[in-house]
Amino acid sequence: MSSSALNVVVLAAGKGKRMNSDLPKVLHPLAGKPLLGHVLDTAGQLDPARLIVVIGHGAQAVQTMFLQHPRPLAWAEQTQQLGTGHAVAQAAGQLDPGGPTLILYGDVPLTRLETLQALINAAGTSALGILTAVVSDPTGYGRIVREGNAITRIVEHKDASPEERAIAEINTGIMVVPTTFLQRALGLLRNENAQGEYYLTDLVGIAVAEGLPVVSASPEHEWETEGVNSKVQLATLERIHQHNLAQQLLESGVTLADPTRLDVRGQLRCGRDVIIDVGCVFEGTVALGDGVRVGPYAVLKDVTVGAGTVIHPYCHLDGAQIGADAVIGPFARLRPTTSLADGVHIGNFVEVKNAALGANSKANHLAYVGDATVGARVNVGAGTIVANYDGANKHRTVIEDDAHTGSNSVLVAPIVVGAGATIGAGSTVTRAVPAGKLTVARAKAVTLNGWTRPRKQAK
Ligand code: UD1
Ligand code: CA
Repeated sequence: MSSSALNVVVLAAGKGKRMNSDLPKVLHPLAGKPLLGHVLDTAGQLDPARLIVVIGHGAQAVQTMFLQHPRPLAWAEQTQQLGTGHAVAQAAGQLDPGGPTLILYGDVPLTRLETLQALINAAGTSALGILTAVVSDPTGYGRIVREGNAITRIVEHKDASPEERAIAEINTGIMVVPTTFLQRALGLLRNENAQGEYYLTDLVGIAVAEGLPVVSASPEHEWETEGVNSKVQLATLERIHQHNLAQQLLESGVTLADPTRLDVRGQLRCGRDVIIDVGCVFEGTVALGDGVRVGPYAVLKDVTVGAGTVIHPYCHLDGAQIGADAVIGPFARLRPTTSLADGVHIGNFVEVKNAALGANSKANHLAYVGDATVGARVNVGAGTIVANYDGANKHRTVIEDDAHTGSNSVLVAPIVVGAGATIGAGSTVTRAVPAGKLTVARAKAVTLNGWTRPRKQAK
């Protein structure tokens, strides 16, 4: 089967009342990405011809969130939630009849691609395929009714007889249906049932009556088909997902001090022999080179770290490129558009923003380096402030190779500090600092002879 004609319909119209939140349910993040984003990303990997999302509650917010989605998305609005069959019917007109239609759920984020592929393969082009699972507690789910081995229908929990309720094989909800059959059969659904809803699951009985083959496949793990209806379920799936990610990291050779105390909210790529201590959070796209060590409680967002670099505890690194063999922290803050060359040292309580530091430059204590271009082997003294902001505009500072700024110096931008220049401690410099010389800009110390300290007057 050419997967190019596959249709995917994602149901995402429900309110998610039990979330007790103003945010539409499918926008709640799991590992930093909206639930629906997980579903769309997995569906996208099937390379479908049509990817249609059925929206209702919070439709506008949901569409807005996915404006930048890399896949072309189509939307179908379901203004009243009259059941899963009714929901799919809203998308029926947009389906490509040249391939089957896979039905997914915006609040079921962790289904694996392999599982969907197995279901699609099992169904081929002319059978209806249901993803089913045998569970210890089937309460609430639709039950798979079989005669011998053959599936005859799905009965919803609320409509099921006591014998049917004893069936442990449940409908996960995920289904793949031949599209022309789907388009026709959706029109045949009736809502005469316990919930007064148009059940998608009634398609199975219709298919059997028409002689359309019905097949099933099953996910390897129960969490693949678990949905989110509450914050409790969201937190549970978050932990399962983080456990899976940690497992992958361990298997790829990363040392994790504790796989249960790590959060990856995006892409984390690691080289060989990377060591990550407890409590670290990785967001966006993070790449750690060979031998990188990350100390406890670091937050890294959109960061690249070169081989052999050590990140000491409690660092917040956001939008930074860090070279090899650098030493960062403890308590360092790197803000977006920071680039640090090989061997740079950034120490405690140092903030760097929109700045480039050349090889082996150091800012080890209590400094602010913003909007600056810093050469190689520069020593930014303790307490150095690059005053980049005049109250209205930001200005750039250039510190050339081998310059040393003294402790507690203020460099008022725009300014150039020449190569090899030394700025005396406590100086505030506002004009170009000549290369290779000592520049001091502070009041000279004066000692007054004969001065005496005032005394308290006796009462
Ligand atoms: C559905 C299945 C049931 C299955 C279960 C798995 C039907 C009739 N039943 O039941 O067999 O075991 O899922 O979880 O399909 N939705 C809409 N519009 C609607 C109704 C639902 O978008 O009008 C969306 C919901 O937001 C939700 C999903 O579809 O994400 C499932 O709907 P829900 O009503 O929760 O179905 P279940 O009763 O759980
Ligand atoms: Ca449900």
